[in-house]
Amino acid sequence: MIGRLNHVGIATPSLEAAIALYRDVLGATRFTEPMVLEAQGVRLCFCVLANSEIELLEPWGEASPIHGFLARNPAGGMHHLAFEVPDVAAAAAALAREGARVLGPPRKGAHGTPVIFVHPRDMGGVLVELMEPPGH
Ligand code: CO
Repeated sequence: MIGRLNHVGIATPSLEAAIALYRDVLGATRFTEPMVLEAQGVRLCFCVLANSEIELLEPWGEASPIHGFLARNPAGGMHHLAFEVPDVAAAAAALAREGARVLGPPRKGAHGTPVIFVHPRDMGGVLVELMEPPGH
């Protein structure tokens, strides 16, 4: 089902501080412009690496799911892994057949393509995002 690792999502209390860490300490040079995904309650940007991307996520709005994560991990931390799949709806159906809980219907992700999230309790403790690859 899964193809390449598209990105690793990192939650942070401050997007600007996270950008500074990856840029100034780790020496990353390519970042996308910060953007807000209102429906998902996040402000984010991508740190673009040679073989993958790091999605830096800050809570946006009172209802942001990132608030709960930061309550448990105040300094931030690894939030999810995002794998590419050719067809998110087909992947959701296949996961449901396997008894894995998909969190909500497909929605538009940060790359503008459909995404779903799979419950960490059914994914070995890791929140998994499945996304259709950009440019398809
Ligand atoms: Co993501």
